[in-house]
Amino acid sequence: MKVVLAYSGGLDTSVCIKWLRENYRADVITLTLELGQKEKDLKEIEKKARDIGAIKTYSIDAREEFVKDYINRAIKANALYGGKYPLSAALSRPLIAKHLVEIAEKENADSVAHGSTGKGNDQVRFELTVRSLNPKLKIIAPVREWELNRSDALKYAKKHGIQVPSGKSVYSIDENLWGRSIEAGPLENPMKEPPDDVFSWTVSPEEAPEKASYVELEFEKGIPVALNNKKMNEVELIRRLNELGGSHGIGRIDMMEDRLIGIKSREVYECPAATIILEAHRELERLTLTREENSFKEIIDSKWAKLAYFGQWMEPLKDDLDAFIDQSQDMVSGTVRLKLYKGNLTIVGRSSENSLYDLDLATYEKNDVFNHKMGEGFLRLWGLPTEIAGRRKSRK
Ligand code: ARG
Repeated sequence: MKVVLAYSGGLDTSVCIKWLRENYRADVITLTLELGQKEKDLKEIEKKARDIGAIKTYSIDAREEFVKDYINRAIKANALYGGKYPLSAALSRPLIAKHLVEIAEKENADSVAHGSTGKGNDQVRFELTVRSLNPKLKIIAPVREWELNRSDALKYAKKHGIQVPSGKSVYSIDENLWGRSIEAGPLENPMKEPPDDVFSWTVSPEEAPEKASYVELEFEKGIPVALNNKKMNEVELIRRLNELGGSHGIGRIDMMEDRLIGIKSREVYECPAATIILEAHRELERLTLTREENSFKEIIDSKWAKLAYFGQWMEPLKDDLDAFIDQSQDMVSGTVRLKLYKGNLTIVGRSSENSLYDLDLATYEKNDVFNHKMGEGFLRLWGLPTEIAGRRKSRK
């Protein structure tokens, strides 16, 4: 048996290598994706995999692909699950699954494996994507099959001489360009404020500088292309916003979340760049889309976020929504100015050559061109149904 394992280098997936060898006598090939995780040394991770027993290791820098095909879609869709979570982990899973399938086909493997638990969302995202791309592949989820909890995993790792990441091992952490998610340990008490040691991308607002920073983000058809008037590669732009936002304490999210399988969980995220970009993008839509477009798109956006969250990346409805969303971005070009100060993100300016803002109509000054007399007749008609209903009420 030959299996390709999605390998992060962390505790659970390291244990998986050993477990797959012991229980399935499988030849394990590992696949690690570079998605913008901090302090990720791919060579070291590959070495660790071989030391534990992998017969072959792959690592792929997939940052550009992640930005182009996943993050950009999420930006255009203003994607926030539960109104708060930018889907950082959720967006990465279908991409990892796609590469798993590609390597499995290349290596003639019969199975793929992932280290997700049986009650999270990540198993859903991996498996629905793999099934839709290649239903012949067997999917193994050692952590789920084995009902492995974190302390058992630690024990198993120690017993087999698997190196355990020091310090933060009480937390389950997932990281990529779009954000960092932290679960478990003291966070399981939803009434307790997250201790300082859960955060690593952001400072607390109290420790943020006394002086605000301003950023100007320029978009072209819904996608960020320049930061402070400098055009740059989007991976770099996101990286810089994570740094800058993090240094001002922007992007900390602490929320109750409804998982697909029905349980509620308390989730903590650090998503400085995602928070800034999504906020700016939404504002540019307010400036450039019509009232009808804005209100209808909210419905589409919220459905899109649910599909991405619930692992339905390959569902044809998602492509249909993407087509609508792409079309809607035609006019969404321009610049948004934001202020970052002690954990607060404030929009302070916006401009676009496609702006629908008309100063001559909006002004309260004497150069106002709006014909106020039009109001009277319009309001009689607009209020007519309510007026008729009101008359009926007084008759009764
Ligand atoms: N709850 C989030 C989601 O479903 C984050 C899961 C990330 N995984 C982790 N091991 N922390 O997308």
